[in-house]
Amino acid sequence: MAYENEKLLEEKVFKDPVHRYIHVRDRVVWDVINTREFQRLRRIRQLGTTYLVFHGAEHSRFQHSLGVYEIVRRIIDDGFSGRAEWDEGQRLVTLCAALLHDLGHGPFSHAFEKVFNLDHEQFTQQILLEQTEVNEVLSRVSPDFPQKVADVIDKTYPDKLVVSLISSQIDADRMDYLQRDAYYTGVSYGHFDMERILRVMRPTEEQVVIKHSGMHAVEHYIMSRYQMYWQVYFHPVSRSAEVILMKILHRARYLYETGYAFTQEPKHFISFFKKEFELKEYIALDESVLLMYFQLWMEENDPILADLCDRFVNRRLFQYAEFDPASQYMKFGELVKLFQEAGLDPEYYLVTDSSSDLPYDFYRPGEENERVPIYLQMKNGDLRELSRMSDVVDAISGKRRTDHKIYYPEDRLMDGNVLHEKILELLQG
Ligand code: NI
Repeated sequence: MAYENEKLLEEKVFKDPVHRYIHVRDRVVWDVINTREFQRLRRIRQLGTTYLVFHGAEHSRFQHSLGVYEIVRRIIDDGFSGRAEWDEGQRLVTLCAALLHDLGHGPFSHAFEKVFNLDHEQFTQQILLEQTEVNEVLSRVSPDFPQKVADVIDKTYPDKLVVSLISSQIDADRMDYLQRDAYYTGVSYGHFDMERILRVMRPTEEQVVIKHSGMHAVEHYIMSRYQMYWQVYFHPVSRSAEVILMKILHRARYLYETGYAFTQEPKHFISFFKKEFELKEYIALDESVLLMYFQLWMEENDPILADLCDRFVNRRLFQYAEFDPASQYMKFGELVKLFQEAGLDPEYYLVTDSSSDLPYDFYRPGEENERVPIYLQMKNGDLRELSRMSDVVDAISGKRRTDHKIYYPEDRLMDGNVLHEKILELLQG
């Protein structure tokens, strides 16, 4: 039997708190899961620094990836299979893309990527296409199979229906992470009726659409996402931890570049500081490696590096205040001066950060990454864009909300010193 059609003699199941069970029958899927690059995702948290706010949020990208796979498997096997619009020949590539869509994420993704100017999507492509165990398994299906999986994830695959299952405004990725993140953080916002949504999803040539009667379930899903963003994903305290993490990496790089003699050589980072690293060095990084360095660097002689590491490890985070650097640049300049006077390096101790999200977007051709809208399929087969049918979705669609903050070490400014008082007044005023 061809490798791509091979089934395991006995089905493998993973116990999962969100989907109860994750089912694997395909030999290829099972082999992909057992590669070292996929197993690495166990050592990378799904929500980065969020566990410092919601202590339950220790879940990994490994379980999210399995979850996305399971949702796609159910859509295909229980919903699409046998329908004229669905091409069964796309099943395996879709399942593999679902499983591997986050493969390139690094430790504390956003912070790490920002500091070293990297892009996890590019690493996903590289891990799929270069000399890796994942590539070896996928190539056994056919020589062009790794490229097909990479194209689905890159959204350049010719079958748009397949792409829309993995990345669209109502895809398996979002449906898994909303529920999973809600479960692990313990918040009540992210829950919605996925069972209902799966039952009303319909394949079309261009994308997956929703049977009209399922509109309210989709409204609920959109609102869950809206609330999760503001209550969990952009939580100012986990952003504070992320800010500190970025500053640790900045400081370590600066020290390395200026010839500082580390007690603990940053062996794992040197090639990133030099911007000449190999894929295997990227794959070797995970969150345990970073945290080990932070522990060791708490003992470094450089007071800034030691302090920032201590803050991250022992959760002595920065305080925050509302602050828009674009409109308040005069005030920012003043603060920088006062920080310097107070002996606090503003480069590391005065940080502005902005987050923004678009909860749902209708189709606006030619605009920044055109988002394919969600379509409802009417009784007569016509498609209608969701926000035209739903007042709830219409109210929040196309509206970008941005939140600006400034972060600083309040604990260093609390000693009654006149200069410190002045700084606090300015920050909080
Ligand atoms: Ni994902």
